[in-house]
Amino acid sequence: MRAKTTALSRRNLLLGTAALGATGSAAALLFSQSTKAATVGGIKNPLAIPPLEEGRMDAGTRIFNLDIQDGVSEFVAGLKTPTKGINGAFLGPVMRFGAQENVRLNVTNSLREKTTLHWHGFHLPAHADGGPHQVIDPGTTWSPEFKIRQKASTMWYHSHLMGKTAEQVWAGIAGMIIVEDEEAKALDLPSTYGVDDIPIALQDRTILTDGTMPYAPTMHDNMMGMTGNIPMANGTIGAVFDVTTTLVRLRLLNGANGSIYTIGFSDGRSFRKIASDGGLLAQPVEMQVMALAPGERAEIVVDMSDGENTTLTHFVRLSQTELSPEFAFLELRPSQNLTPSNPLPAKLASLAPAVAAQAVNTRRFVLDMRGMMMMGRFTINDVQMDMNVINEAVPVNTTEIWELENRSRMSHPFHVHNTQFRILDRDGRPVGPEEQGLKDTILLRPGERARILTRFEDYTDPNLPYMYHCHILEHEDAGMMGQFTVV
Ligand code: C2O
Ligand code: CU
Ligand code: CU
Repeated sequence: MRAKTTALSRRNLLLGTAALGATGSAAALLFSQSTKAATVGGIKNPLAIPPLEEGRMDAGTRIFNLDIQDGVSEFVAGLKTPTKGINGAFLGPVMRFGAQENVRLNVTNSLREKTTLHWHGFHLPAHADGGPHQVIDPGTTWSPEFKIRQKASTMWYHSHLMGKTAEQVWAGIAGMIIVEDEEAKALDLPSTYGVDDIPIALQDRTILTDGTMPYAPTMHDNMMGMTGNIPMANGTIGAVFDVTTTLVRLRLLNGANGSIYTIGFSDGRSFRKIASDGGLLAQPVEMQVMALAPGERAEIVVDMSDGENTTLTHFVRLSQTELSPEFAFLELRPSQNLTPSNPLPAKLASLAPAVAAQAVNTRRFVLDMRGMMMMGRFTINDVQMDMNVINEAVPVNTTEIWELENRSRMSHPFHVHNTQFRILDRDGRPVGPEEQGLKDTILLRPGERARILTRFEDYTDPNLPYMYHCHILEHEDAGMMGQFTVV
């Protein structure tokens, strides 16, 4: 079966109509290649909006109860898929935190295996980070407490168990977090949860005809990162959302194991990016396509006032100017009478310029892969992750330049815990306005070098480390990770 052709040349984006490539052993797959086409094999389902969890206040602390559990999901009507989730069968609630608040997260592990829960993007004490050192044994509860020191942003949380992160995230142990602050509130951005402010976890999975969604990476998957042939938005296949306002804000998370998405709309319409990983940009940036690597978030605002349906799509680049639709993630279906939204402000966050001269120290990180044809050896600075080795000790309150170099022939999204950094340059060239905001994950293309400006304030701990790693989860699990302390 061939992919459905989509007419896409509007507004000078040339979107190809090439047939989609064959994927895996067709007999075992639930969908044929047409799954990937614009209509996801004709399936349409209302977009699942995760429950918004605001916790309960107790003596000035916002308290959340999270239960990591086994479950059964019905991604396809009539088919039972064993999954894992948080307070539910697959993925977890969207938690909302206020800047400067104290939060306590009571995380109970109801699985029959160990797990962890990491708060991706947050500046917090190492003991609260939820990385590989904060293992939660089956039947026990881990209750970290920390202060929210972020700007208004879209964060997320996910399993980070040593060697098992990929498998547990694939099964569904992940969720999203919204941080709010006064600066953002004053901007009157679309912010009615589930109406004009929508969290969207983008993922892909493979489901077999018996309903199972096994984590069974091949050698190729271990090398390239595990990918599936079915796009999901918040766990929904063929998601459709009924838009009721002229502007909608989509909080996009790439929650995939190994897929780097190239995001745009099926009709080639542009959108405005308003936030990167750690918060709002200085001003909205108009874009037509945007790369989003595993771990990264981007908030975008889409103008629906023309009343036309459009589909949030992952494209494959055929050439500089030609894109071919690969995954149809979410169809936006505007209603007849759209409520007019406030116009987007021309200025968003106040962001101090990133100044390289502030750095007093430079550290280098070289990402590499060896043994392409065998089991990959994934390294940072020539070594693989070892739980017993602290690779770097970083002085507190010190601005540093981290020079990143991707010496391999694959792209790697490099993520640093406990901080929001700024990108100084890529291959010596300044980055565009869409990359000038706060970041915790940076995509490095093959052979690329980038410099980032980092700073770690307080929370010193000479013994307990934070992680830096590739966010392609198969690479992370295969050792492309290191540990640093703040001292
Ligand atoms: Cu999103 Cu070390 O993690
Ligand atoms: Cu993280
Ligand atoms: Cu990688």
